[in-house]
Amino acid sequence: MQKVALGKTGVNVSEINLGCMLMGSALDRTTSYEMLDRFVAAGGDFLDTANCYAWWVGRGEFVGAESETLVGQWLKERKNRDRVFLATKVGARLKDVKRIRDGQGQVYWDQVRQEYEYLSAQVIRQAVEDSLRRLQTDHIDLYYAHIDDRVTAQEETLAALQRLVEEGKVRFIACSNFRTWRLERARQISAARGWASYVAIQQQYSYLRPKPGADFGIALNADDELLDYLRCNEEVTLIAYSPLLKGIYENEQKREAYYNWPLFNSCDAEVRLETLAQLAQELGVSRHQLVLAWLLHQRPRVIPIVAASSLDQYEHNLQSLQIHLTDEQLAILNSATA
Ligand SMILES: NC(=O)c1ccc[n+]([C@@H]2O[C@H](COP(=O)([O-])OP(=O)(O)OC[C@H]3O[C@@H](n4cnc5c(N)ncnc54)[C@H](OP(=O)(O)O)[C@@H]3O)[C@@H](O)[C@H]2O)c1
Repeated sequence: MQKVALGKTGVNVSEINLGCMLMGSALDRTTSYEMLDRFVAAGGDFLDTANCYAWWVGRGEFVGAESETLVGQWLKERKNRDRVFLATKVGARLKDVKRIRDGQGQVYWDQVRQEYEYLSAQVIRQAVEDSLRRLQTDHIDLYYAHIDDRVTAQEETLAALQRLVEEGKVRFIACSNFRTWRLERARQISAARGWASYVAIQQQYSYLRPKPGADFGIALNADDELLDYLRCNEEVTLIAYSPLLKGIYENEQKREAYYNWPLFNSCDAEVRLETLAQLAQELGVSRHQLVLAWLLHQRPRVIPIVAASSLDQYEHNLQSLQIHLTDEQLAILNSATA
């Protein structure tokens, strides 16, 4: 696995970021450890977690600390903290995880937005200590503001993050699910104050494009505006989450059942799926592998966060690193539109 630049930090990270969201909840300890071991053995070092993963799995048995806890235990047991570039996030943890479910364990999804902790200085101060403790480390390499906070002043959030950088608890800061103008405004504040500035933005990004006006709630897809911004601002790297849209590319039934499918289901998606299927067949690869390869070929660089529910899926997805796409093949994929 190659190493690629993270913005203009001078630091190189693996071209694939391993998604650890379901580790410790949906993914058991043995499988998670094996996946982490294989990733590092393959030359990977970039791990992605958050301080809220993954409270929504199951019927209330998880609180959202499981992923960080598992990664922390793995780092301690393997004694390899210095070989890993560790990213975690603050802001999307729930104030009270018990309040969000009914007696049967069903989540009140319409109330989640009010339950987030968001990004006040007080939340950040406490959250970083909790994350460091769970991760069993003295520093976080990349610390994300997980969701935008339209109530707390951006100055307050950035000042709190700057303090963590000064204290050595955090090396670099980043944001996720931010609109482009909010990213730019934050960068302006950082520049004016001489504070640490966001070096990456983590958005949902895959080969299929959402329908115009698609509303993902608090989550945001990388849109044309952001992609254009990033082409002119290479200090910020796009980290792509949910690159396989939960694994819907091969299976129509799964696609139909995907909760966000109505936001993608369009003539444009139909053409893109058909184009993807044809090229995947020609190349003798799966559509999932081709989507990941397409992401890996984007310039400026996009770093996909690859996740899997089994070791077979993990191995399958990592094979996308072997796919070389020609300019002509990229043009076919890029120009597919309704
Ligand atoms: N910043 C944010 O707000 C945010 C949001 C979401 C995720 N993330 C990060 O991004 C990472 C990836 O997100 P994601 O889990 O949503 O990614 P994804 O790529 O959209 O979905 C992964 C899921 O797709 C299915 N899958 C994976 N490989 C497959 C294959 N080869 N064939 C068939 N199905 C396959 C599996 O689901 P099945 O169990 O159905 O097989 C797997 O759990 C997370 O771990 C997390 O670190 C960040």
